[in-house]
Amino acid sequence: MLKSTFIFSALLSLSVQALPADNATAYFSGLESSLINNGLSGLWNAIVVANHTDTGPDLINKLYSDDQFTIYAPNNAAWDGSGLSQPPANGDLVSLLSYNIVQATLNSSTDIAPIRHHTIAFTELRSPTVDLPGDQTQVIVLETAVNATTGQDVNDGTVLVRGDNWNATSAGEQFVYSNLHIQPIDKILAVPSPLLKTLSQSGLAIAANLGATSAISAISDAGLNDTLSSECHGCTFFIPVNAAIDVATNFTGLGNDEKRNVLLNHVLNGSTVYSPDLNPGNAYITSAGMPLIYLADDQGKKFVSVGQYRASILRSDIPVSNGVVHLIDTLMIESQNNHERADSAASSASSEAESRTTTTNVIGVGNTQAPLTTSATQTSSAATANSTQAESFALRSMRGPGDIESALKVSIIALVLGRLWI
Ligand SMILES: *[C@@H]1O[C@H](CO)[C@@H](O)[C@H](O)[C@H]1NC(C)=O
Ligand SMILES: *[C@@H]1O[C@H](CO)[C@@H](O)[C@H](O)[C@H]1NC(C)=O
Ligand SMILES: *[C@@H]1O[C@H](CO)[C@@H](O)[C@H](O)[C@H]1NC(C)=O
Ligand SMILES: *[C@@H]1O[C@H](CO)[C@@H](O)[C@H](O)[C@H]1NC(C)=O
Ligand SMILES: *[C@@H]1O[C@H](CO)[C@@H](O)[C@H](O)[C@H]1NC(C)=O
Ligand SMILES: *[C@@H]1O[C@H](CO)[C@@H](O)[C@H](O)[C@H]1NC(C)=O
Ligand SMILES: *[C@@H]1O[C@H](CO)[C@@H](O)[C@H](O)[C@H]1NC(C)=O
Ligand SMILES: *[C@@H]1O[C@H](CO)[C@@H](O)[C@H](O)[C@H]1NC(C)=O
Ligand SMILES: *[C@@H]1O[C@H](CO)[C@@H](O)[C@H](O)[C@H]1NC(C)=O
Repeated sequence: MLKSTFIFSALLSLSVQALPADNATAYFSGLESSLINNGLSGLWNAIVVANHTDTGPDLINKLYSDDQFTIYAPNNAAWDGSGLSQPPANGDLVSLLSYNIVQATLNSSTDIAPIRHHTIAFTELRSPTVDLPGDQTQVIVLETAVNATTGQDVNDGTVLVRGDNWNATSAGEQFVYSNLHIQPIDKILAVPSPLLKTLSQSGLAIAANLGATSAISAISDAGLNDTLSSECHGCTFFIPVNAAIDVATNFTGLGNDEKRNVLLNHVLNGSTVYSPDLNPGNAYITSAGMPLIYLADDQGKKFVSVGQYRASILRSDIPVSNGVVHLIDTLMIESQNNHERADSAASSASSEAESRTTTTNVIGVGNTQAPLTTSATQTSSAATANSTQAESFALRSMRGPGDIESALKVSIIALVLGRLWI
């Protein structure tokens, strides 16, 4: 009781100093003008409608605080195009708005990772719409837009938000209202689906042989539907594309237990590892208990390896409601397992998640400036983003010959380590 009173007054004194406007009424009327003046009346309308739901007011009132947010603001054409110009007042609308709000300020010109890299930003979309460990929220995946003709970054502050089978793009200049960075975009960001539904999206890949429907069949045939969905809370899935599974004749002849092991050797149980957090040389323990090693070469190509098998990552960071998918080009037919090691990895992942006290707001930030945050929890998160970002930068700037050598050394050490672990 005493403790909570203390925390309450500490928060109160913090917020009194840095409130974004004199009072909530003034703040929201300023937000209304700001959105409408910038051609975003559809978003304001959605906020007003969401305010009439059970959970909407919590989300909306959260904005009026000394925390900082970035809103990826669907423009009016986006609401019209989705048939949501008059959205229904329900929980789905609140989920949708939550997914368009990031818990940090991200400057579209300076903070977004360049082509072939991702900035991962944690949104306000939470459980039960997401099934991630601890208090982790769903992410959006950002990169700077490229010029279709030259294939180079356009470098004009245009950002791309990458979904499973859609991209959203900046639709106008980012602007600031009080504690909010507001980036107009041309689509409503669609809330990620569960694993199997995401894998069945026909637009997931640019060509059918890069799709993931064969992986669904393999998972289903091995009786792993539930294991990888309702029983996998915040997992990392390395999913072989159709072409990879279709040529894996050695897999076809395996017994059911071995097939399950092979598939579980493509999954990290209970930890959701996005690409900026994959460090070359790191070894992870799969759901089958074998070491999975992440490697990167000097060209920026990324690999994972289990046993004697190695796969290239073709596309990283496809968010799903219970984790993240990275598409790979090879089925790694490692059929051994080690239950003890799998259990211990799962339980340490889950205790790590439960004991987490700071929230990471952003990983893989595009420049050296950490996003500014002001609340007590978010100050420590900025530090997390800062160190993570230093690592992803080190990765990205591995260009000189010396660096290539050291990268190779790391990979060889990792491979040796991998063997020893087995
Ligand atoms: C809220 O702030 C506005 C503008 O500063 C002021 O006009 C209004 O009286 C305030 N309302 C309350 C209830 O304090
Ligand atoms: C939300 O609803 C409350 C209660 O009706 C009202 O006081 C508040 O101004 C509304 N906020 C917005 C942003 O519409
Ligand atoms: C983003 O950074 C650029 C370059 O530093 C700056 O000119 C611009 O004002 C910033 N934008 C926002 C919305 O803070
Ligand atoms: C893409 O690059 C070409 C060649 O430099 C240029 O002419 C064109 O305007 C660029 N397009 C955009 C959208 O920036
Ligand atoms: C999204 O953008 C990426 C990067 O430019 C591109 O490779 C991909 O094909 C786009 N996807 C869709 C569905 O437009
Ligand atoms: C597994 O899920 C897939 C995709 O939803 C479905 O087609 C298949 O029938 C399911 N398999 C079983 C055994 O329920
Ligand atoms: C298939 O199995 C054979 C015999 O065990 C082995 O020599 C070969 O390397 C395997 N091929 C693949 C692609 O795993
Ligand atoms: C993950 O670990 C939990 C707890 O040990 C277990 O119940 C679950 O079946 C595991 N899931 C997978 C995909 O291995
Ligand atoms: C970020 O890292 C730099 C260099 O390591 C350090 O000087 C700075 O204080 C850090 N910022 C935060 C917010 O931790």
